[in-house]
Amino acid sequence: MQLETKRLILRKPKKSDWKDIVEGVGELDIAKMMSYIPHPYKKSDAIDFIKKTNKKWKQKIITSMQFSIELKAEKKIIGGIGIGDINKFSGTAQTGSWINKKYWRNGYITEAKIIVNDFAFDKLKLRRLDSYVYRDNKASNATQKKMGYVLEGTLRKSKKCMATEIIHDQNVYGLLKEDWKKARKKLINKE
Ligand SMILES: CC(C)(COP(=O)(O)OP(=O)(O)OC[C@H]1O[C@@H](n2cnc3c(N)ncnc32)[C@H](O)[C@@H]1OP(=O)(O)O)[C@@H](O)C(=O)NCCC(=O)NCCS
Repeated sequence: MQLETKRLILRKPKKSDWKDIVEGVGELDIAKMMSYIPHPYKKSDAIDFIKKTNKKWKQKIITSMQFSIELKAEKKIIGGIGIGDINKFSGTAQTGSWINKKYWRNGYITEAKIIVNDFAFDKLKLRRLDSYVYRDNKASNATQKKMGYVLEGTLRKSKKCMATEIIHDQNVYGLLKEDWKKARKKLINKE
C-alpha cells in the first residue's frame, strides 16, 4: 500500500530506509520536539522502528500505519508520517510526523498531510484525528492550524521528551471530517 502526491511517495518503511531515518531524526532539532526518539539515535534504533512498524502493518485489525516519506526527485526518505491509535469502532486516530531539517519549509508536510487526511477520512472512514503538540513547537503548532485542526486545550506538564528529558505542556488538537473538508478546499485553492 502506498500513497502518492506530486513530489512524494508515502510507503511502508523498508530496511534500507535506516540511513535516511537516522540522518533525519538523529538531528536534535527533530528529536527534541518528539516524545519517543532517543538521542543520539543509532542504526539499531531505526532498524527496531522499521521492524516494529512493519509488524503493525501486518496486523489483521490495523491500529497503526507509519509511512516513510520518499522525495521522488532524490529517491530519498526525507520524513515520516503516521496514523496511530486507529480505533475503527470509535472512528478516531492520532497523527504525527517529521521532516528532515534540510528540507523544512518546502511544503512537504503540508503535501503529505493532505493525502494522509484524505486517506484517514475517506478510506479508513474515520471521524476525527487527534494531534498532540508541545506548546513550544512553533512549526508544528502552525502546521496543525494550517491543516484545519482546532486547538481544544492544553495538557500541562503532560509529556517528558525522551531525547532531552524536558517536561512539556502539550496542546491537544482535533480535526473532524467536516473541519478537514473546509480546510482542504482552502489548501487546494492555494496550490
Ligand atoms: C513540523 C514539521 C514537520 C513541518 O514540516 P515542513 O515540511 O517544514 O512544513 P511545511 O513546509 O509544509 O509548512 C507548513 C506550515 O507550518 C508552518 N511552519 C513550518 N515551519 C515553521 C517554522 N519554523 N516557524 C513557524 N511556522 C512554521 C507554516 O505555517 C507553514 O505554512 P506556510 O509555509 O504556508 O506558511 C517540521 O518542522 C519538523 O519536522 N519539525 C520537528 C519534528 C516535529 O516537530 N514534528 C511534529 C511533532 S508534533
